[in-house]
Amino acid sequence: MIKSGKDIIFASKLIREGKLVAFPTETVYGLGANGLDAKAVAKIFEAKQRPSFDPLILHISDLEQLETVFKKPISPLVLQLAEKYWPGPLTIVAPKTGKVPAVVTAGLKTVAVRMPAHKVARKLIKQAGVPIAAPSANLFGRLSPTRAEHVKAQLKGVDYLLDGGITDIGLESTIVTIHRNNIEVLRPGAITADQLQADFPDCKVVASNTEDYIQAPGQLKSHYSPRTPLYLYDEVPEKLPDYAALLLLEPHEVPEHAQSKIVLLSPTGDLTEAAAGLFQALHDLENDPEVEQIYAVKVEEKGLGMAIMDRLKKAAYRFSHFVDQNGMTAEEVSRQNQEL
Ligand code: TXA
Ligand code: MG
Repeated sequence: MIKSGKDIIFASKLIREGKLVAFPTETVYGLGANGLDAKAVAKIFEAKQRPSFDPLILHISDLEQLETVFKKPISPLVLQLAEKYWPGPLTIVAPKTGKVPAVVTAGLKTVAVRMPAHKVARKLIKQAGVPIAAPSANLFGRLSPTRAEHVKAQLKGVDYLLDGGITDIGLESTIVTIHRNNIEVLRPGAITADQLQADFPDCKVVASNTEDYIQAPGQLKSHYSPRTPLYLYDEVPEKLPDYAALLLLEPHEVPEHAQSKIVLLSPTGDLTEAAAGLFQALHDLENDPEVEQIYAVKVEEKGLGMAIMDRLKKAAYRFSHFVDQNGMTAEEVSRQNQEL
């Protein structure tokens, strides 16, 4: 069992000693280590069972730390983005300095950096006095943690867990990089492409993909996965078996005789509320022995809907692409069983 509590000073000492500390941010919980200490960072990969080609985010508490992590001259657009959205759920990828160990960036010449808004995270980084490298505090490929219990249930080998209750946003940060005058969104999040475009009208905001960017094709299409098979539907399926749970982000009409469990994340159709509860709902459903399948109904890929659909598609990927001996995916088998 991981030792947990609220002692930020103790946690910051552990970071300086090269140990692992899980901590809350406004997006999800992170698994942190001293970002300038290659040996400490290597422990993160071990605890998460994360492949070493997947680079980490460095978390800072003050703008002065930017010079430690980003190579000079830092693009004015990077500085403008930092000023506009930090502290907050935006991660910026830009060329790194020699101080950032290769293990953090998986050998890339760029590094991902963000300044979290969560008070506990900011205090921890400030007290530690170093940038903290931290991926989400889950096993690789599994659901991200939105509360301390999720971290405890998944990880071993963590020296301390700072318990900060439930995270506000519930989805990982938006990741962007700058290409000439373009802002490329590598991972959608709470700061939406529309918002970036509105705040930076002279730039072109384009959707890109971390997978293309870090050139690990196929490897990361499946991510954030519950253990229970999850399938995506355009609308509420007509037949709802009792072993399936229906996951709705916004209100929908449901067939009258539906026996299955129904989870509605936002009764008012508020996507911010739905996003905040998404991983919690998936954690609960994967631990519910009565639920053998999860049927999730899509939301429109607009605004925050982009980030929600990104996570849902990644959660569904391995179930819709794993092929059985008859050449059928688990999803096709499930749909066929419903028709019979
Ligand atoms: O909200 C968040 O971002 C959370 C909290 C803890 O800060 N962190 C998080 O980290 O989601 P993680 O490791 O689960 O996702 C970081 C992703 C990597 O998987 C990779 O796709 C991308 O950031 N990334 C990191 N460095 C990169 C780089 N140099 N170039 C492109 N993508 C990078
Ligand atoms: Mg993650």
